[in-house]
Amino acid sequence: MKKILVTGGLGFIGSHTVVELQNAGFEVVIIDNLSNSKIEVLNQITSITGIQPDFYQLDLRIKNDVKNFFNNNTVDGIIHFAASKAVGESVEKPLLYYENNITTLVYLLQEMKERKLDNFIFSSSCTVYGQADELPITENAPTKPAESPYGNTKQIGEEIIKDSCNAYELNAIALRYFNPIGAHDSVKIGELPIGVPQNLIPFVTQTAAGIREQLSVFGDDYPTPDGTAVRDYIHVVDLAKAHIAALQRLINKNNKQHFEFFNVGTGKGSSVLEVIKAFETVTGKKLNYKIVDRRAGDITAAYADTTLANKELHWKTEKTLEEALLSAWKWQEKQ
Ligand code: UD1
Repeated sequence: MKKILVTGGLGFIGSHTVVELQNAGFEVVIIDNLSNSKIEVLNQITSITGIQPDFYQLDLRIKNDVKNFFNNNTVDGIIHFAASKAVGESVEKPLLYYENNITTLVYLLQEMKERKLDNFIFSSSCTVYGQADELPITENAPTKPAESPYGNTKQIGEEIIKDSCNAYELNAIALRYFNPIGAHDSVKIGELPIGVPQNLIPFVTQTAAGIREQLSVFGDDYPTPDGTAVRDYIHVVDLAKAHIAALQRLINKNNKQHFEFFNVGTGKGSSVLEVIKAFETVTGKKLNYKIVDRRAGDITAAYADTTLANKELHWKTEKTLEEALLSAWKWQEKQ
């Protein structure tokens, strides 16, 4: 049985990926510092799959702890989720973001190189494309200067991995996520935003639940069919499965280059107003919302061309926006 290290494995995307790894027959060891996750998630994962993953509460910024972990664990692959992800916070605390997202990446790669470990999957983001000139966005689209330190950590992260792969003959895949939403069908794991949600879907579900009074729709003067911004919302379980596909590609040595990257989205763009309408339809709840000014740093539209991921990873999305929104709502109701 292959053993996979999942850093940030108790987080939103990490926890769903752990479940899919276990379903696919992998043994999982999780590292998480619980900075943006809860220990209860470990039991929830166990109750879904019937298998308790190994768990280490440690902080990847402490190099010695990372070394100790690898002294005691040999792994066949690493899926690296552990990182900070709030765009606004990254503008206020850039050094925290560079430490959390870059230093930890370097430490992991150093251990891989020294111990001859291989097969690394990196959480990247469609943010590397900025406002792309053409839609849907293919992997050939140029990266644009990052709008935030968070976005910069994803770009720099990819470059660090690419250079390391070339120099040390490591094999890695970066997955450029579009907008992950939703929750597991079991309603045992989902997104757990701390404080006021910055992302659209948790704000929508909290508004529907009465926790927030009103949803602000950031701008209706974008050059899109209804004036609101367009994104590619992907069900987190579909996204989790893309990690298994990418990992299998590396383990089976089907990769064509040491470092590869793929878009992971649905290929379909939805505007904020379309999301609101779809949410109201599937849940039967009316959303209290108002149009306000644009949010600084937001782009007009982004959705993926998924041809490359479909072909090379033998992966495609299975769930609809409606299913994703309904699962997000069920998860909210359970909180
Ligand atoms: C942002 C980041 C992305 C990051 C992701 C996860 C950018 C450009 N993108 O995605 O890199 O990976 O968060 O944290 O920084 N909206 C509202 N009202 C709200 C919240 C959002 O109208 O209360 C709108 C936004 O203007 C946007 C859409 O909903 O058009 C999606 O927003 P959000 O969920 O925050 O994701 P992104 O900004 O696309």
